[in-house]
Amino acid sequence: MKVTVVGAGNVGATCADVLAHREIANEIVLVDIKPGFAEGKALDIWQTSPINLYDSRTVGSTGDYAKTAGSDVVVITSGLPRKPGMSRDDLIATNAGIVKTVTENIIQHSPNAIIVVVSNPLDVMTYCAYLSAKVPSNRVFGMAGILDTARYRAFLAEALNCSPKDIQAVLMGGHGDTMVPLPRYTTVGGIPVTELIEKDKLDAIVERTKVGGGEIVNLLGTSAWYAPGAAAAQMVEAIVRDQKRIFPCCVWLQGEYGLKDIYLGVPVVLGKNGIEKIIELQLNAEEKALFDSSAKAVKEVMEVLDKMNEQA
Ligand code: NAI
Ligand code: 2OP
Repeated sequence: MKVTVVGAGNVGATCADVLAHREIANEIVLVDIKPGFAEGKALDIWQTSPINLYDSRTVGSTGDYAKTAGSDVVVITSGLPRKPGMSRDDLIATNAGIVKTVTENIIQHSPNAIIVVVSNPLDVMTYCAYLSAKVPSNRVFGMAGILDTARYRAFLAEALNCSPKDIQAVLMGGHGDTMVPLPRYTTVGGIPVTELIEKDKLDAIVERTKVGGGEIVNLLGTSAWYAPGAAAAQMVEAIVRDQKRIFPCCVWLQGEYGLKDIYLGVPVVLGKNGIEKIIELQLNAEEKALFDSSAKAVKEVMEVLDKMNEQA
């Protein structure tokens, strides 16, 4: 299996390192626009192989997409984080330009690739990649839900003093403050979480999860990479090993949950064909209202991209 990771920055390099270390792909290509950057990161990762005892080969390339030819899966992490003085629309315009060019290059050299988008703003960048790739939507989707549920599960494990391995959870909606963690679908070793923790503590964990990305930005001055890189690699693993894992992913909705023509986080089955099934939960009125409000927020940002495309 061949996997390309575009963007050799914090998230991209971490994702490539996990893919190599866990032998999820035998050939990994890292691409970046900064001269020598991807080559340097790839060489460093490859030099961990005798220490960590694996034989997946990681190579780097400065913008030469011929090296990515025949990739089975491509992870797109290229893009700028928001900088002081930059509006949200500026960020959308800059990152949409990057994601569009990258996606076109990828599809030209790997027409059958499955594309996992990581670049922010996640839901609208996934939409951007879908418009540029011109392939069926089961092959273009975004990573956010695995990261956001991982944060939720880690906070719960800490509060309950139990193993994070035993916490199962679902979270839906956009990758932002409107995301919807779902306590009704959260279990700890098969026990509903609501039986194990007081409501006010659970509510506080839900609220902390929603701003989990910002908490790390405040601590580091830049966004997270270990958990995002590992989350993207987990999606790649489910695809290349055809695991049929159930994960929350950002996918193109066509009537599911009463929504149409929108990229949004929902639980899916992930396997060798990409999104193999969208799972429709029976949300109660409160959950549905939160989900719809998240959809509205995402749709507004998608419309910003649509307007930019109309004017281009
Ligand atoms: P970074 O700045 O460390 O890396 C981004 C890399 O993209 C840089 O090395 C840059 O040179 C490269 N790049 C820029 N334009 C390119 C192009 N046209 N072709 C190839 N490479 C190009 O940023 P980091 O921390 O790795 O984050 C990457 C993106 O992922 C950001 O947009 C960030 O907001 C997003 N992100 C999304 C998460 C999610 O849950 N979906 C979680 C964490 C980050
Ligand atoms: C995160 O959630 C900022 O999307 C980035 O860490």
